[in-house]
Amino acid sequence: MACVSAFSLQRITHNGPSSLRRSAQRLHPSPASPLSFSLSRADSGALLVLRAEEESKGSQAVAVKDGEGDELAVRKEELLKCRDALRDLIDETAAFGILIRAAWHDAGTYDAKKEGEWPKKGGANGSIRFPEETSHAANAGLDNAIKLLQPIKDRFQSVSWADILQMASAVAIEMAGGPKIAMQYGRVDVDSPEDCPKEGNLPDGAAPFGDGAETPAQHLRNVFYRMGLDDQEIVALSGAHTVGRAWKNRSGFGRGEEGTNYTTGEHTDLRQDGKGYYGKEGGMSWTPRWLLFDNSYFTAVNADDDPELLKLQTDTCLFADEAFRPYALKYADSQEAFFADYSAAHKKLSELGSKFDPPEGITLD
Ligand code: HEM
Repeated sequence: MACVSAFSLQRITHNGPSSLRRSAQRLHPSPASPLSFSLSRADSGALLVLRAEEESKGSQAVAVKDGEGDELAVRKEELLKCRDALRDLIDETAAFGILIRAAWHDAGTYDAKKEGEWPKKGGANGSIRFPEETSHAANAGLDNAIKLLQPIKDRFQSVSWADILQMASAVAIEMAGGPKIAMQYGRVDVDSPEDCPKEGNLPDGAAPFGDGAETPAQHLRNVFYRMGLDDQEIVALSGAHTVGRAWKNRSGFGRGEEGTNYTTGEHTDLRQDGKGYYGKEGGMSWTPRWLLFDNSYFTAVNADDDPELLKLQTDTCLFADEAFRPYALKYADSQEAFFADYSAAHKKLSELGSKFDPPEGITLD
């Protein structure tokens, strides 16, 4: 984010100088100088040009914007461009899995019962970008997701980390053949590592469970109820493991570089768009086509063990637990039902603990 005191003046619009100055100061106030605010939307190129000059005879700030729109239109434009850039990134890297996981781990620290104002309850607020949080054991490997997204953040400085993470996940799911999720944006980022949640909020895949739970089902309930999510949402969200792999050297589950029949060697049908996967081989997937977002997680977990596919204790309990089982069976039977419930649960997850500016959020289409 470039902190500037002077920009070139181009054109003045009906929006007027003071309204945009107020907007800029609200976004990135500079206590040092009211007119030395951060140019957070500079990347939109011709879209927004601000001029702020401090002169001996007084200061002036001039805001310029193309077209008919207002500040919101500019932000929407940036979000749309950011989404296009994420689509390109995911298309090139096929990093579907790690991006979905990174967004969930930013949001999944939320504790509905915790006292205090935002961001005390944790949640989707971009705190996972800080090494203090990526270094939590549950986040092993997610520093790679942050590195992958950093150039996008550098390019679209007005878009928060919290939005970029959640947007990348929603885009990845859609590009992998999954549902289009009714996302909203405008999340505000926490400012410093001091706002990172303490370690130990995310679920463990197997006993011994960090919360002392005796069964995987109880552990899932402890963790997800804390976020305000229910049994149906737990089962639906678990279906995200239709995509991605587990790595021995990260979570301790799955395999290492030797991989499985599904994660090493040549596979031409992994992606729903028919494109090949040229990334790193190895690890262990939950499903044979692990770059496809469909309901095959539920059929695979419910099928006889395939030694080449992963089943965590927290996966198998979805069919063993009496209250989880009807949902798991329903999703194994109907992709349509899974997509409908997944979309609703994912949207909720993606907004846990988020503060939106504007408060009603920004929708794109
Ligand atoms: C229900 C409790 C959950 C447990 C115990 C769990 C556990 C795990 C574990 C152990 C891994 C392997 C990480 C690695 O070795 O790199 C993993 C990966 C993954 N998880 Fe979960 N997870 C849970 C819920 C979720 C949810 C709710 C989502 C998304 C909504 C999700 C999305 C993913 C994805 C996409 C991957 C693959 C990452 C990759 O390919 O790099 N998980 N999860």
